[in-house]
Amino acid sequence: MAGITNAAYRRLCLEQARAQGGDSLFVCEMITSRGLVEGDATTRQMLVFDEQESVRSVQLYGTDPAYVGKATEILCAEYGVAHVDLNFGCPVPKVTRKGGGAALPWKRTLLGEILEAAVTAATPYDVPVTMKTRKGIDEDHLTYLDAGRIAEEAGVAAIALHGRTAIQSYSGTADWDAISRLVEHVDIPVLGNGDIWEAADAVRMVEQTGADGVVVGRGCLGRPWLFRDLAAAFLGEASTRSGRVPGLPRLGEVAAMMRRHADLLCQHMGEERGCKEFRKHVSWYLKGFPVGGDLRRDLALVTTLAELGDLLAGLDPAAEFPVSELGHPRGRQGSPRKRVALPEGWLEDVDGTGCVAREDASETTGG
Ligand SMILES: Cc1cc2nc3c(=O)[nH]c(=O)nc-3n(C[C@H](O)[C@H](O)[C@H](O)COP(=O)(O)O)c2cc1C
Repeated sequence: MAGITNAAYRRLCLEQARAQGGDSLFVCEMITSRGLVEGDATTRQMLVFDEQESVRSVQLYGTDPAYVGKATEILCAEYGVAHVDLNFGCPVPKVTRKGGGAALPWKRTLLGEILEAAVTAATPYDVPVTMKTRKGIDEDHLTYLDAGRIAEEAGVAAIALHGRTAIQSYSGTADWDAISRLVEHVDIPVLGNGDIWEAADAVRMVEQTGADGVVVGRGCLGRPWLFRDLAAAFLGEASTRSGRVPGLPRLGEVAAMMRRHADLLCQHMGEERGCKEFRKHVSWYLKGFPVGGDLRRDLALVTTLAELGDLLAGLDPAAEFPVSELGHPRGRQGSPRKRVALPEGWLEDVDGTGCVAREDASETTGG
């Protein structure tokens, strides 16, 4: 997730999964192919990995097969990346307006060319390429089934489906039936995405859709221990998937997690930037806990680790986890868009042979 899954947060989540004897693939924030190929400084700075990350996984945004191929090659050759995911799910107008993100799979031939370019570049390094997409542009312009077939033909290792269309953005509920349909439609592994708030949701999604795995989005905001719960739910209780998870953390445990998060951010970015970066996570961590407005505000303005320590000491460690928050959406939701911004005439043909959508080197808005 753009702006969230930097090296520090991936490390924290990894620690949680491993504490329960599990593991997960934690994907680096999305970077643009063009930015990487052209040596853009911000893009390169995002390609930082923690020493504990044994599998380096990066999501690429791209609309031009030449840039995507070259960027994949750079990731494999120079950054030791072991997994490349391609983003075709971003619903943000400035991205879809140029034919990128969730708009791109409408152009079937272009999609195939991009996927093939990535797979061709990654194959000599034995690096699997996956793709992530949405159901389509809107209910009248669905793309996911064709995208699955095209991905399979291009040699893509797995496809992740977010069960919403671009016009829905993050609103409403994800359509898990679409995930089931994709599972039926392709022979490559399908990863389901959308509305996994608790480990039990992930277990339910896999059971209900037949998906081979799940992709977690907003559910982990301020909840790195979701990956501990997922490990427990999928690996625990002999061979049956119980969906049972370790106990809910009290505020003291959450405060310790917040401190660990901030420490890791500061280790990776320095104290000033790390504390600034940490601020956006505060409200997610504290959602539903009995914490006064002043303390919340001060935490969200923290500037040093020492100050953070003092403020966290003001939380009641015994406060119980607010169970009313369980199973509820976190982070972005909003309402559906009125229309999806697309390039002029984009929907008129589904082929897109020779059509190269203009690629922005500094696209960082995500999926
Ligand atoms: C802040 C934020 C940033 C995101 N960035 C990305 C991204 O860079 N790449 C991507 O594929 N999806 C991105 N997403 C979408 C999520 O990965 C996920 O597909 C979506 O939120 C639906 O899953 P959920 O209902 O579990 O949240 C982002 C979502 C949020 C809220």
